[in-house]
Amino acid sequence: MANVAVVGAQWGDEGKGKIVDWLSNRADMVVRFQGGHNAGHTLVVDGKVYKLALLPSGVVQGKPSIIGNGVVVDPWHLVGEIEKIEAQGIAISPDVLMVSDNACLILPIHPALDVAREAAASAPGSRIGTTGRGIGPAYEDKVGRRAIRVCDLASEEDLKVKIDRLRAHHDPLRAGLGLEPIDPEALLAQLMDIAPKILPYVQPTWRVLDQAIRAGKRVLFEGAQGAFLDVDHGTYPYVTSSNTVAGQAAAGSGIGPRGVGYVLGIVKAYTTRVGEGPFACELFDEVGTHLSTVGREVGVNTGRSRRCGWFDAVLVRQSVAINGIDGIALTKLDVLDGLKELKICVGYRIDGETFDYLPSSLRAQAAAEPIYETIEGWSESTQGARSFKDLPANAVKYVRRVEELIGAPVALLSTSPERDDTILMRDPFQG
Ligand code: IMP
Repeated sequence: MANVAVVGAQWGDEGKGKIVDWLSNRADMVVRFQGGHNAGHTLVVDGKVYKLALLPSGVVQGKPSIIGNGVVVDPWHLVGEIEKIEAQGIAISPDVLMVSDNACLILPIHPALDVAREAAASAPGSRIGTTGRGIGPAYEDKVGRRAIRVCDLASEEDLKVKIDRLRAHHDPLRAGLGLEPIDPEALLAQLMDIAPKILPYVQPTWRVLDQAIRAGKRVLFEGAQGAFLDVDHGTYPYVTSSNTVAGQAAAGSGIGPRGVGYVLGIVKAYTTRVGEGPFACELFDEVGTHLSTVGREVGVNTGRSRRCGWFDAVLVRQSVAINGIDGIALTKLDVLDGLKELKICVGYRIDGETFDYLPSSLRAQAAAEPIYETIEGWSESTQGARSFKDLPANAVKYVRRVEELIGAPVALLSTSPERDDTILMRDPFQG
């Protein structure tokens, strides 16, 4: 299998950025296929930290990188992120970055709506805890067939027509939330101002990919968020607004399903989530504090603290199924160093019944109580280990038990945020 898709197997923040960066070495091209700048990917290269949200992680290594049609693009954010990364010494030319001409735009009206809705959500359970970046409202306009797309930036006439269509939908909505109507002239002026900064990167990227794949190039598909934030498969409605599962790598970049190749699920050695929604294994004790502080569990872009809990094997096994995961990259094992005993969730008890999967109903998800298996911890440090042989026996046991419970092998083990602190068990590009 020449291509690899990297997807989050939990609720996001599994450490995809580092793994994608590491795999970029072996790839010819990197592609983002869903989400937007709600994602936060941290790369640490030679001690230098790069924080990306919308740019594919491949740009740091100068690999041709595509923002695919499945992504919602905030053009102002994109220009800002390009400038920020360029200021860190990374050149981002149109040879390196390509933006799909049929991707939909996030406009200033989208984060405004996102934030206003969250602020107005007073009924219990009605707040989603979004990143406030306008992702949901932008995808709503996409499926509502009124979005402004990247290709529209080339025509002032098209933009005018589309802005009028947006007004018809948004002005009543905005009035209901106490927001001013859209100012069409101001929006047009903003778009006309940003257009020349975006257009040099714009391409029919499906075609670029088709040619690359036909020429035998190795493509790395970089997912954002995680399987349980998927709009279909996640803990709905506490999800993001895109499909985050590996199948989306095809539709969100414009290739056929066979082109996706090896599916690498990124799995944190424990569980975290940000925002609202059910989380059966969440911890509120000193172990939760340990995971949060030692794991530095704070959002890359939003600065929000992440909720922490034990490893949930039921969730990840489900993720293996819905993504078609061939192997996993297990990250942050070192965060468990020093814990006397470790728990792994192997089932749920819901209203007196035992489940070996997470049911779809929110009521059932919220009522799920974890059934734990306890295994012995280790006192030695695993941080920075570069060989499986360097790991303490109990850490090896933990990894093996995880593999057994989720039904997928560990292909990579990450033992620190540094690029080179990675143990390769099996090369995803070799299948
Ligand atoms: P949205 O994607 O901003 O609409 O937020 C919807 C939900 O997805 C919220 O619970 C967010 O916290 C969560 N979310 C969005 N992006 C990420 C991410 O990159 N990591 C973790 N959670 C995310």
